[in-house]
Amino acid sequence: MGNTFMKKTIVTDNISYIEPVSMSNYQACSGLVVTDKGTKLVIDTNLGRTESKPFLALERPDIGIVSHYHLDHAVWSSELMGTTDAELFVPEIEARYLSDFDFYLKRTIDGSPLTALWKHFTLSVAGYKELGHYSVYGEGHCFDIGRCRIECIGTPGHSPGHMSFYFPFERILFTGDMGVDRFGPWYGWPDCDLVKMIDAMFRLRAMPVTTLLTSHGGLFTTGIVERWDRALGHLMDREKRIVKGLEEGLEKERIVASGIFFKRMPVVDEPMRSFFRMWDENMYDHHLALIERGGIAKVFSMSRRICRYR
Ligand SMILES: [Fe+2]
Repeated sequence: MGNTFMKKTIVTDNISYIEPVSMSNYQACSGLVVTDKGTKLVIDTNLGRTESKPFLALERPDIGIVSHYHLDHAVWSSELMGTTDAELFVPEIEARYLSDFDFYLKRTIDGSPLTALWKHFTLSVAGYKELGHYSVYGEGHCFDIGRCRIECIGTPGHSPGHMSFYFPFERILFTGDMGVDRFGPWYGWPDCDLVKMIDAMFRLRAMPVTTLLTSHGGLFTTGIVERWDRALGHLMDREKRIVKGLEEGLEKERIVASGIFFKRMPVVDEPMRSFFRMWDENMYDHHLALIERGGIAKVFSMSRRICRYR
């Protein structure tokens, strides 16, 4: 099901999974629509710069939720406020990122020579607008939409206040950006925390989930634990490549040039090429901090066994 601006997959009578037509240049993600007893709630329905508005005008949700502040998950929220009377909920920990552009800039790219490019990308390409009115939610908050209960699970690391959403009656988990996709987890800003992210991945992996919904990887009903293991395995692979480079005496620049998030840096136009490089440098720094503590296998003693599927 769907139309020109999205694809809709019916998950249950009350829950639909919404995928954008394109996710290029980090400007869209997959989200959810939850409807029961006359109330409609949407999560992360950021379908693209021109697609979110007609979608929201058509759906007219009563409640909108943003999982975390990253542009590809959050810029639709200003369209929501302009298009509908919905109540918007943002993670309490990240409210300032979404309501104070200077704070957002400082916490993402502070001091980088790419600041002007990133500022232009954020405002003019992605369409960031400071939020004036919003409500906040946090770890443990529950949204009850008729018979549907949505439990908010704090899963920091990818961003400081990143949230995942669990439907306990249906055993459905919407992970947001936890890295269950073909590229694996991302932690490219200084405010990311690799240790917290791995901890959150283990917590989600242990949940009794029968349907896994992701922001960038699709919908899964089989092999869910193995998919978490593959996501964790990406982290182990990256750490291994960095340790190998260090053992060979390579400098950070050489190791980053060979790719951290992507095994081979893709050929893309500017400014994305510079952004990819900057994010990989930050991801290298996060790995190095963990390597100096003994590495993933030492900090998370279970990870060797858990990542056996790689
Ligand atoms: Fe994200």
